[in-house]
Amino acid sequence: MAYKSTTKAFSVEPTPYSKRLLQVTFSQDTIASFLKELEHCPVQALEYKSFLRFKCAQILDKLCNQKLKPFLEQALSDRKTGALLVNPEGINSAKQGDDMVKIATAFVHLIGRSNFDQMTGQFYARWAVVNTDNSDSYLRQPQKPLELHNDGTFVNEVTDYVLMYKIDEQHMQGGDSQLLHLDDWEDLAKFYHHPLAKKVMRWSAPPSKNVTCDVYHPVFEADNHANPVMLYIDQFAQPKDYEEGIYLADLSDSLESSKAKLSFPVPVGQFLLINNLFWLHGRDKFQPHPDLRRELMRQRGYFSFTTNPFSRYKDFKNF
Ligand SMILES: [Fe+2]
Repeated sequence: MAYKSTTKAFSVEPTPYSKRLLQVTFSQDTIASFLKELEHCPVQALEYKSFLRFKCAQILDKLCNQKLKPFLEQALSDRKTGALLVNPEGINSAKQGDDMVKIATAFVHLIGRSNFDQMTGQFYARWAVVNTDNSDSYLRQPQKPLELHNDGTFVNEVTDYVLMYKIDEQHMQGGDSQLLHLDDWEDLAKFYHHPLAKKVMRWSAPPSKNVTCDVYHPVFEADNHANPVMLYIDQFAQPKDYEEGIYLADLSDSLESSKAKLSFPVPVGQFLLINNLFWLHGRDKFQPHPDLRRELMRQRGYFSFTTNPFSRYKDFKNF
């Protein structure tokens, strides 16, 4: 379907990077009105009272004449798109980080609910990437690419969407966001029809993730329309034998060498919101710099309007 501007509050058009990735721009007036209505609601109130997150969502949708909620549901569930690059105009400095949390919260609580984030103990996570890092995964490490993956691979929670917000960036060269739509991946059929594609495998996280038990699920499943969906991450897969190890290693090589991989910068103050079932995401490496700093925020959770086929392998804890 063709997406066109639907209200004065926000406009929608394909990005130059892919017609599947839509640029959604919110007018400065809309965002200023939204934040004005929430000026007596600090982020701490959203942390303590989860129902206020839905109130946040309602306020934003009202300012968009109730057109935002149906648009998000349609665009994020549509297999042909399923990815948004959102620009709330006028909010683009690191000192507006709390405003960004409110905006992100409003968006995702129109489509579902954010999961508890084990890394921070909140429904969202904010963290900085700096020039040096001693962590136990590639999440914060500047000089290593974060290879294409899905989120929610090693937790007992359904993860239908991922929101990634660029709060701040200083002295950054490289580090583009990367996305791959499953239907654009040249080798999808080869790996989806492989005998190991739907074999349950073990996934476990390093200590920094604060997740203590392993989870078990296959790399691929089929959704309600018999389309392939994926739940995969290179760093936390624990193949049990030679066959599983080689299958995963070949799959990783194929994803990283795909010519359909999108690579583009997300400007400060903008965020990506993607369907996590048929989009993979990653981040390119970037140049070291002594004053390098990037601050990010994420929220991830479940849609209230779909059934994730991977949930059958998990204890469903999403409520
Ligand atoms: Fe991720």
